[in-house]
Amino acid sequence: MINVALPKGRLGEKVYKMFQDCGYECPSILENNRKLIFENEEKGVRYFWVKPSDVSIYVERGAADIGVCGKDILLEYMPDVYELLDLNIGKCRMAVAAKKDFYDDNTKTLRVATKFANIAKKYYSGKCRDIDIIKLNGSIELAPILDLSDVIVDIVETGTTLKENDLEVKEEIVPISARLIVNKASFKFKTEQIEKITAFLKEQVK
Ligand code: PRP
Repeated sequence: MINVALPKGRLGEKVYKMFQDCGYECPSILENNRKLIFENEEKGVRYFWVKPSDVSIYVERGAADIGVCGKDILLEYMPDVYELLDLNIGKCRMAVAAKKDFYDDNTKTLRVATKFANIAKKYYSGKCRDIDIIKLNGSIELAPILDLSDVIVDIVETGTTLKENDLEVKEEIVPISARLIVNKASFKFKTEQIEKITAFLKEQVK
């Protein structure tokens, strides 16, 4: 049995469809209920819906053999897993955004609101810029509007959230997409099954 951690939400549904098209279907997963575990014994696959930012924890600790999560999570938490494949979906970018009239005064510490403290620290230390991290868990765009921060470091997908809040991208940090990750021990002991799934998924990557 291969245990797969899928990120709950729109990305997870796309990912499941890729697995399904590879022959690892589990039709009950698409039923609208609140179940979190789905199994197709015949195909030897078990899926879990987990919070997207938790996928790497399940995989790193071996509760799931494989999983799919955004590159943002891998860069932020550096989990001890193998990254096997870029699925080329869930594409977005990590960026610095601020109010349109924001001017960076280098003599002052920059206040940065973000969910991605490690990515932000690394980015600004590379620029030798002093920052004060304000760690938030969501609705990051509010921070510069309420003068809680000067800038935000956040995911930008369509750009709609920024636009609707009169903010704009100031700097691009890194492009992001969904990655297939694997638990290191699982890769050793279930090599054949995992390589087979990876090869099938690779054929689906557009
Ligand atoms: C993410 C991100 C932005 C938004 C960007 O938030 O933090 O707020 O999506 O998408 P867009 O460029 O297409 O508008 P998410 O939906 O994960 O919610 P959050 O407020 O909990 O971070």
